[in-house]
Amino acid sequence: MAGLMADFGHYTHAIVRGVPASLAKDALRIVQADIDVVKAQREHEAYVEVLKTRLGLEVVELPADESLPDCVFVEDAAVVCGDTALITRPGAESRRRETELMKKTLKDLNLKIVEMTDETATLDGGDVLFTGREFFVGLSKRTNQRGAEILADVFKDYAVSTVPVVQGLHLKSFCSMGGPGLIVIGSSEPAQKALKIMQQMSDHRYDKLTVPDDFGANCIYMNLPNKGHVLLHPTAEQFPESAKVFEKLKDYMLIPVCNMEKVKVDGALTCCSVLFNKKADI
Ligand code: GLY
Repeated sequence: MAGLMADFGHYTHAIVRGVPASLAKDALRIVQADIDVVKAQREHEAYVEVLKTRLGLEVVELPADESLPDCVFVEDAAVVCGDTALITRPGAESRRRETELMKKTLKDLNLKIVEMTDETATLDGGDVLFTGREFFVGLSKRTNQRGAEILADVFKDYAVSTVPVVQGLHLKSFCSMGGPGLIVIGSSEPAQKALKIMQQMSDHRYDKLTVPDDFGANCIYMNLPNKGHVLLHPTAEQFPESAKVFEKLKDYMLIPVCNMEKVKVDGALTCCSVLFNKKADI
């Protein structure tokens, strides 16, 4: 386990997918909002550029599919841990076909593929928080108990606990990992309650970093050779008060990433990539 933790946040690869024009009208959303799709596409291009150029990851860019308006949110289609990729069964029927290209891509990258074929199970990757020690799985409108059980069965080396998600789309709509053993969490009552449940379920004492905005808590932590601790976090323009909290983090390469359009369809920073460490022997 110590060896695994030392690797936490060490990614070599990212899978991303383009933003289809159909996102504006047809992407799912909790609150009705008008989307400027060109702005969403530019925002996404900048995100991909950070992964590729600034951080040096090998980025596999999949084409947008107009018949899959939510396809940019690749995180929901697969959970990758070690050399295994669990291809999910997304909770929204309109999103199920997103897994086809994800499966092919991960297979071509030589990951071990396990598919969630049980028709009673649903799981979105946005509901899966991997801490490096264990998994927390949000039980939400998109993810059910059976989905969490299958995940536990696939990643047997880790404990898996479930957490009710009573507000927002996914578990990671209000939390994420900010470093080894550090959970970034929103301030709302449901977010704080979820954190308490995670703390009760675990035999590890996680540190917490509380930010004023729930959505502001969705960050991407990496630990990269020659770069050290890296945190992609929402910009001050989007969440001024939450950004102030991140700015106080010491010894981090802090990278504010604009996500003002995709957030209108409930897309956070983690939603837009599948990150993994493809060791040479995979
Ligand atoms: N728009 C992202 C989702 O609802 O799944």
